[in-house]
Amino acid sequence: MTPDSARMATSAEALDTKINEAARLLRNSQRLVVLMGAGVSKESGVPTFRDALTGLWAAFDPTQLATVAAFRANPKLVWDWYASRRTIIEAVTFNPAHQALADLETLLSQVVIVTQNIDGLHQRAGSRDVIPLHGAIHQYKCLADCRGAPTLVNVVVWNDLPAVPRCPHCGEFLRPNIVWFGEYLPAESIARATALCHAADVVLIVGTSGVVEPAASLPWHAKHYANAAIIDVNPTDDEFAVMADVFLEAPAGSTLPRVIAAMRAL
Ligand code: APR
Repeated sequence: MTPDSARMATSAEALDTKINEAARLLRNSQRLVVLMGAGVSKESGVPTFRDALTGLWAAFDPTQLATVAAFRANPKLVWDWYASRRTIIEAVTFNPAHQALADLETLLSQVVIVTQNIDGLHQRAGSRDVIPLHGAIHQYKCLADCRGAPTLVNVVVWNDLPAVPRCPHCGEFLRPNIVWFGEYLPAESIARATALCHAADVVLIVGTSGVVEPAASLPWHAKHYANAAIIDVNPTDDEFAVMADVFLEAPAGSTLPRVIAAMRAL
């Protein structure tokens, strides 16, 4: 064995050990909360927010596209950007990480997925209890929420429109039902996610850098208030690695199915 291959074998062994530790923690969980971020969708081919600003969109700053002020200044530009994102998302499918999390429901009594992703891939994979903290790109609502928040409106065609469609109730513009910079998260969603974290026994964190609030605080709440065990899956260091009981430094798509297999073997 060369020194390099020896090092790789050791780290593969170390990952195996950690996968088994994670499986043991999860097997005994009765109140699991899963916190998801863009890393898991990236494996399906959904570009992250900044990655998406390529090609036609390379000249734009996200803050020029994802705020109410930006939408008011140029509704068609913002609409078209989200239409292009939605087209990408419609064309991709869930990956083995999403599938593994849906499979977890057959093994545990509580699996609640709190996601910062707006792509709906967990629901497509079959997860039944998903809290979409930042909204859903396939939904549209009235900009004024004229019939209460959110006033959802069915939009059949979203791309190549000559103008931004209007709310059938009040005539205001329609917009994607997602949380823009400077906006509050849906009150019920963040309240439920926080309450779940205050009672969680395990929090599984997957594919998030942990820098965007308030989602970034949820695992810290779970650790502080409920002494929850924290499992973090990310191929690179993130804000949670320091406090994680188990840090699985690897991509979610190859790691989560192994965790499920290890749980089944226990
Ligand atoms: N498996 C797991 N994690 C991965 C993978 C992978 N295959 N690939 C990348 N990652 C990790 C990255 O290392 C990074 O830590 O996913 C994380 C993605 O971080 P961000 O791009 O900051 O995404 P997220 O944490 O979801 O951002 C939160 O910020 O951009 C806004 O509103 C947007 O919902 C988003 C929020």
